[in-house]
Amino acid sequence: MPDQDSKTSVPAPATSNQMWGGRFERGPAEIMERINASIDFDRKLYAQDIAGSKAHARMLVATGILTREDGEKIQAGLDAVKAEIEEGRFAFRKDREDIHLNVEARLAELIGPAAGRLHTGRSRNDQVATDFRLWVRDAIDRLGAGVRKLLGALLDQADAHAEVVMPGFTHLQVAQPITFGHHMMAFVAMLERDLGRLTDARARLNECPLGAAALAGTSFPIDRHMTAADLGFDRPTANSLDSVSSRDFALEYMAAASILGVHLSRLAEEMVIWTSAQFRFVSFTDAFTTGSSIMPQKRNPDAAELSRAKVGRVIGALNALLIVMKGLPLAYAKDMQEDKEPVFDAADSIELVVDAMAGMVADLTPNAEVLKAAAGTGFSTATDLADWLVRALNMPFREAHHVTGRIVKLAETRGIDLDALSLADMQGVEPRITQAVFDVLSVDNSVASRISFGGTAPESVRFQIRAARGRLGL
Ligand code: ARG
Repeated sequence: MPDQDSKTSVPAPATSNQMWGGRFERGPAEIMERINASIDFDRKLYAQDIAGSKAHARMLVATGILTREDGEKIQAGLDAVKAEIEEGRFAFRKDREDIHLNVEARLAELIGPAAGRLHTGRSRNDQVATDFRLWVRDAIDRLGAGVRKLLGALLDQADAHAEVVMPGFTHLQVAQPITFGHHMMAFVAMLERDLGRLTDARARLNECPLGAAALAGTSFPIDRHMTAADLGFDRPTANSLDSVSSRDFALEYMAAASILGVHLSRLAEEMVIWTSAQFRFVSFTDAFTTGSSIMPQKRNPDAAELSRAKVGRVIGALNALLIVMKGLPLAYAKDMQEDKEPVFDAADSIELVVDAMAGMVADLTPNAEVLKAAAGTGFSTATDLADWLVRALNMPFREAHHVTGRIVKLAETRGIDLDALSLADMQGVEPRITQAVFDVLSVDNSVASRISFGGTAPESVRFQIRAARGRLGL
């Protein structure tokens, strides 16, 4: 139905862009359209874009900038566009560049000239910044939920195997006996900090750029506090230039995801090592192993390897956006359209990795016997022997270290473990050693003695588990 506007509006030449082509004589070169259009990837922002537009339109009505009637048409039209997209009936068009113009142009087809009033007091620059913040905020929430699930699985494994003794490594050489629960709790500590980083990033992200307009704000009497609250932001952003030109919220999310990824990649690496025939520390059920098409005996930890590899994509995405942003003068530059694909890929990758690791952790079973046998190799209780010399004989630690070294050498020459040496053998090195020394040479006694705060004793691990469950509500 034609109204006031359609009589007065001057359409742009059919070949130029209907949204901004007023001063253009002709449309873009084909290659220009290809490099310029982002609709193939930024269509992912459709829900955020429509939510942002609806909030903006409600505010325009509330402030008297838009009539109630136009406002209602816009709301209904945007709902219809959303339904078309979700039902797969929406024709995304490259000549309409991006998600913002696709939605608005379709809205104009559906409701007529009222659609043209939606863009009052805003620009695509603040629009995309708003949409993207909303998208990243959801991504942070999804990732946080995934990390909590993984934390739950790690805590359950720590609980179930707090007493299982295993070798602790430095330089991947057996160092001292530890408990399996303690090892799981090391990852709980890392992931808890990751969760903290995500929470911090979310709090800083949660300011609304909408209404910053192109870069300088607007002369319309808009209410940015209203749209901010409507979209669940804590407040509007404070500076319009910064609002449209900053992407540190996306960088921070990817930085947090990268650090989380580094932690998960290390866990994945350990799973690869631990499931090898040389280690056999843990086993997975068939659900998390794959076979080989040529070697029937193989059980490969593919999910762990892929998790390790996908983290590379997350770190790469962070780097890609850091490099896009580092040379840009204020305010908006089209370079910033290249912010989305890295973030989308990083989110897909890290969410998949977190879910896969949660599945793997829940699925694994530690092989307690193998672990205990391995814990005793490599003279792993040598430090316990040195500590005993300090405690029982009041020997300075440096001297105790030296004496222990000579005893280890003796065991090594004989090809036996420390606790297989006789008392006479040890007394040959240090005459004051008594039978009591054998109490500290077993791996069980070794771990049980490490009750210092944060130590590996089962008692200490149980304390760590209780405290973490309390903090996390898990
Ligand atoms: N598709 C654009 C982007 O993602 C939207 C902003 C366009 N702004 C502009 N001034 N051309 O960055």
